[in-house]
Amino acid sequence: MNFVGTLLLINLLIIYVKCQFSISSPISFVLDEFSNIATYTKCKFVECCINEYVISDIDKLDDMFKKELYGQTIAQSVVINALRGHLTSSNPPKALSMSFHGPPGTGKTYISQMIAKFLFKNGDGSKFYHFFNGRNDFPLENKVNDYKEELYKIIIKSLQNCERSMFIFDEVDKMPEGVLNVLVPFLDYHTKIKLWRLDNNFINTTKAIYIFLSNTGSIGITQRLLTLWKEGKQRTMTKLQDFENIISVRAFNEKGGFYHSDTIDSNLIDHYVPFLPLEEVHVRECLKKAFVNRGVYPTSEMIKEALSYVTFGPPPDNIYAIAGCKRLEQKVASIIYANKKQTEL
Ligand SMILES: Nc1ncnc2c1ncn2[C@@H]1O[C@H](COP(=O)(O)OP(=O)(O)OP(=O)(O)O)[C@@H](O)[C@H]1O
Ligand SMILES: [Mg+2]
Repeated sequence: MNFVGTLLLINLLIIYVKCQFSISSPISFVLDEFSNIATYTKCKFVECCINEYVISDIDKLDDMFKKELYGQTIAQSVVINALRGHLTSSNPPKALSMSFHGPPGTGKTYISQMIAKFLFKNGDGSKFYHFFNGRNDFPLENKVNDYKEELYKIIIKSLQNCERSMFIFDEVDKMPEGVLNVLVPFLDYHTKIKLWRLDNNFINTTKAIYIFLSNTGSIGITQRLLTLWKEGKQRTMTKLQDFENIISVRAFNEKGGFYHSDTIDSNLIDHYVPFLPLEEVHVRECLKKAFVNRGVYPTSEMIKEALSYVTFGPPPDNIYAIAGCKRLEQKVASIIYANKKQTEL
């Protein structure tokens, strides 16, 4: 048995011996102290649900957004305010649930990974962080009930280990309808879920965080942004209210995981977060970063060449990058390679 296993066994033994004495006896007090020391030592070696591991560093996350997230000021402020409000409350009324919507390559998955990095010391490797992909993890329409059961068990187990667990559901629009209905009791106000039907032990569901990612509503978001642009409203002046209603209506009516779902029906999503299509200026930033990450400071020719691979739409204005900042790395890598070859000749 390894060291951590031994500490667990010691803890169990202490609990057993404690049960043989009254709570106020000196022996019970000493055993309590031993138990605390064993737990403290264990948490030096394995991830525990304590502040050292569940860090919630929102200020640093905000700084990171300001530096590394381009063109998503609405998403940035909605996410930061929502997380701050939720994490600073010792007794939130319900779990925090946010739904991210927008075209491909605009930063939905990217932002979720950043959040994990600043909420958990172990980042997306934390055992309290769960990432599900609608297409890969729930591929079959006829298995909805099995998926629901599995999901229920995973969530219960994680919340038992840490109330501050976080669950990300990517590509919700590729998920069979109905799977997400299993989340309703976890997202509801002041729900207390029993571990066993006849048990009196409850699980607190209200401190967890759920994030849903999808492309539903993208066309509506792009059209609305275009209209606002034509009316002379700058991108940075747009507000959540300009988009929120479009997203919630479309998410509910477009095919996919949220389609006619109880989760939406019961108003259990706290924030619908729009990710706006990226413009050339943002793609340039992404390109610069991709070059610098590979140790190359790009010339304007290199950026121009990389940009020539990016498609813009919708016609006739063609001001938004159709795939955002997606798949730029590969282009950048080949441009660097081609330049290196040329200088070697
Ligand atoms: N707004 C942004 N600011 C900075 N980098 C970005 C932004 N959007 C995308 N990127 C870069 O592009 C990559 C791909 O973006 P991401 O995977 O987050 O897209 P997505 O919105 O999840 O798209 P999809 O809907 O196709 O899943 C990221 O890893 C990141 O490097
Ligand atoms: Mg994604």
